[in-house]
Amino acid sequence: MNLLSKTTNAVPDGLAYFVDQIPEQSDFLAEVISGLSQSPKSIPPKFFYDETGSYLFNKICETPEYYVTRTEIALLNNNGTEISALIGTASNVMEYGCGSSLKINALLSALHEPAEYLAIDISHEHLIQTAKSVAKTFPAVKVGALCADFMEIVDLPKEFGVTGKAPLLFFPGSTIGNQTPGEAGQFLGRVRNLLGANGSILIGVDLKKDKNILNRAYDDAEGFTAAFNLNLLKRMKNELKAEVDVGSFYHLAFFNEQQSRVEMHLVSKRAQTITFEGSTFEFLPDETIHTENSYKYSLKEFSKIAENNGFTVRKTWTDQNKLFSIQYLVSV
Ligand code: AVI
Repeated sequence: MNLLSKTTNAVPDGLAYFVDQIPEQSDFLAEVISGLSQSPKSIPPKFFYDETGSYLFNKICETPEYYVTRTEIALLNNNGTEISALIGTASNVMEYGCGSSLKINALLSALHEPAEYLAIDISHEHLIQTAKSVAKTFPAVKVGALCADFMEIVDLPKEFGVTGKAPLLFFPGSTIGNQTPGEAGQFLGRVRNLLGANGSILIGVDLKKDKNILNRAYDDAEGFTAAFNLNLLKRMKNELKAEVDVGSFYHLAFFNEQQSRVEMHLVSKRAQTITFEGSTFEFLPDETIHTENSYKYSLKEFSKIAENNGFTVRKTWTDQNKLFSIQYLVSV
């Protein structure tokens, strides 16, 4: 494991340490111009998560259609004893993109005397909030925070893992599904280098299933997913002063069976233009902006990706309906 040499910042109350890698903030303007200049047009999904988008994502997680969050939490709660037995005592847990503290709470509660928890997130506010809440709930655990883009991490804070036990990366939510299978493999390869020879991962991976379940999960009846997708246009209007008629686009989500992914798009209802910063982008009727892919795997497909990138799947937990999986990957 490499050690991070960057400045250790003022430590928020309750935390053992805080390291700020000062992650570069994405350039919304440059990436939107680049994405809309391509054919087909696209905008990267990382731009969903401004304050409104993060609020809407939490609402999506509570909808009856989006089975992902509640199935994963139930898997963690129902299989705690087995997960704990495999991971062992005094674990050093780190989490990429600490979202719902419900998940890390379920994991830390299940584990036998976990030693450390390192929260990692690009958003300073989310990071400190989650880390502080974990520190309060688990006073016996040494809790630290690293503000960084988890796609870019090459070093871990020197304060993490002092017991010498190899780290466990917790990566829930099937966030890995928002990368292509090729990117997911490269990502696992980088994680393998970061964690070192005995590192392991507990990862949430969404599974292939009936396309009607998927289509509903990404187009809930209350309209939270539609609002989440359309919020990208609102961000363009508010932040880039774009001339765009948000009401002339609609949300589209469908399972692309050939690619095994749910695609989300913003569809133009008519011929129109979006203009900002001196650039004009033309849309034909029904032309789309592709905003997200969410890949769905069979257990075999995902284990092949893991195996090609330095890990082997030691154990998999799935729900009765085989909607979702949590997988324990150990490095080889
Ligand atoms: C964060 N990510 C794993 C979610 C997903 O299912 O791909 C984002 C999301 N998009 C629409 N609904 C939820």
